[in-house]
Amino acid sequence: MYSQARQLGIKIKSADDIEAMRVAGHQAGSVLNMIREHVQPGVTTGELDRLCHEYIVDELQGVPAPLNYGGGPGRMPFPKSICTSVNHVVCHGIPGERVLKDGDIVNIDVTVIQAGWHGDTSKMFIVGEPSVKAQRVVDVAHEGMKIGIGQVRPGVTLGDIGYAIQRYVESQRCSVVREYCGHGIGQVFHEPPQVLHYGRPGEGVVLEPGMTFTIEPMVNVGKPGTRLLNDGWTVLTRDRSLSAQWEHTMAVTDDGVDVLTQLPGDDL
Ligand code: MF3
Ligand code: CO
Ligand code: CO
Repeated sequence: MYSQARQLGIKIKSADDIEAMRVAGHQAGSVLNMIREHVQPGVTTGELDRLCHEYIVDELQGVPAPLNYGGGPGRMPFPKSICTSVNHVVCHGIPGERVLKDGDIVNIDVTVIQAGWHGDTSKMFIVGEPSVKAQRVVDVAHEGMKIGIGQVRPGVTLGDIGYAIQRYVESQRCSVVREYCGHGIGQVFHEPPQVLHYGRPGEGVVLEPGMTFTIEPMVNVGKPGTRLLNDGWTVLTRDRSLSAQWEHTMAVTDDGVDVLTQLPGDDL
């Protein structure tokens, strides 16, 4: 009998594959550590992109996966090397001339390809002093991601993960974005399965050792709805409320989870 994973096109990774993904994952995490000191009032998102691009290419000798990714009929490929999503931008913000100012919250999403393997991780950065609301949505999204990661072990379902995240986020009077989700990852940037950040216990794919995927909940202060800008990429909250997101890449182990984008000594 074929495993459920195979039927769904989910590629089970070997121990060697996972070590290769950890290299890419640690590199992606190191980019977030590098950029932290540069996220200051007055910097443009384009400058943050430039610094990350140069670090990935020159220091890490890796490839920034977003650059030129995802073109197709009626959509330009992503034009920059990282995503920078400020305030009410939910995800896939395009770096450019925008100047960060005191009180902004910005998600920086980094995906590095190293030796053919992907590592995908993002964090929220707070510019200067945040409002109470901004700090709250950053913290709720972070805790939601950690709760999701805490569910991961063989036998648990993707529905269990989504349910745990949704229940927590909604208990904090925030909402979970539905239109975008986590994803399988490996030699392909986005592969099966889709990892929803909402759901019902016991539903969906049953986790097996060797599965690799991201958990990356997007949490809004207001309603969950989103709107796509005409650039084909930038996703906003429909009600213009603040949004936050955190992301890690992980592998299912024999008895739990191995977070491949977490550097030794770093917090999740
Ligand atoms: N890194 C994003 C994710 O978490 C995807 C960005 S695709 C891009 O899946 F083209 F917008 F960069
Ligand atoms: Co991702
Ligand atoms: Co990402």
